[in-house]
Amino acid sequence: MPAPLTRRFNLNDLRAARQSGNRVAMLTCYDFTTARLMQRAGVPSLLVGDSAGNVILGHETTLPVGLDFMIELTAAVRRGAPLALLIGDMPFGSYQGSMGQAVNNVCRMVKLSGCDGVKLEVAGGHAKLVRRLTDAGVAIVAHLGLRPQTVGLLGGYRYQGRTADEAIQIVALAQRMEQAGAAALLLEAVPAVVARAVVERTSLPVIGCGAGRFCHGSVVVAPDLLGWTDRRPRFVPDLGDPNRPVADAFSEYVRRVSEQQYPADEHDYEMPPAQQVEFAARLKG
Ligand code: KIV
Repeated sequence: MPAPLTRRFNLNDLRAARQSGNRVAMLTCYDFTTARLMQRAGVPSLLVGDSAGNVILGHETTLPVGLDFMIELTAAVRRGAPLALLIGDMPFGSYQGSMGQAVNNVCRMVKLSGCDGVKLEVAGGHAKLVRRLTDAGVAIVAHLGLRPQTVGLLGGYRYQGRTADEAIQIVALAQRMEQAGAAALLLEAVPAVVARAVVERTSLPVIGCGAGRFCHGSVVVAPDLLGWTDRRPRFVPDLGDPNRPVADAFSEYVRRVSEQQYPADEHDYEMPPAQQVEFAARLKG
């Protein structure tokens, strides 16, 4: 079992994974309590993804997610997991307007949430922005492959890099992001051969999400891992059903309340006897 974190996991540790061959685990996280649990469980890196739009807010896409919401969630996760490498996600519309808008919003995310870096879903046109932010000292995780914020263009969520042409474009984009100064790459939903080419042709740590075994890190959406979502994506490991005890606890609570076993005397707050006497007298009077 991994040990709980005892010191802060940082970008250099992620970089070191490239050399050591150790794979770094990352999970998405959206709240303080789960972050605390994940840190205790030894999860070294957390992504507050805009998948919060799906799994927290119940939207069909990530497009409605707002920046203030993401900042608030990211700050909560930071409080719960002060030792984890924490990546905040920039939601749709928060960095596409202009360079000024993007820089201001990324700086807000970093200042207000305490994250260690931010993730942007990138196309070639974002290279200048990545350079500007990197020059400003922000660690950028460039998200390539399937980019859920472009679902309108894609016409649905399909894995990317299916053709040699598409694969070459992904590799070229990864190289462009490295030249622009990105600190790491996140490759979502691409064939393993494409991920391997990215790993071999860049010198950045590459975190895969449905991108096979050649990446240096692996991230999955935690509610997918826990079986909380309707369908587990094929690349998410099957850890059985960890929810049975939780569902049983909810049912047991309902049973105890409805059968008047709960609350019972042992759950009561106490009033000192003298105060109870006075209270009763005053109620009468
Ligand atoms: O928003 C998110 O959770 C993500 C992961 C799927 C990589 O971007």
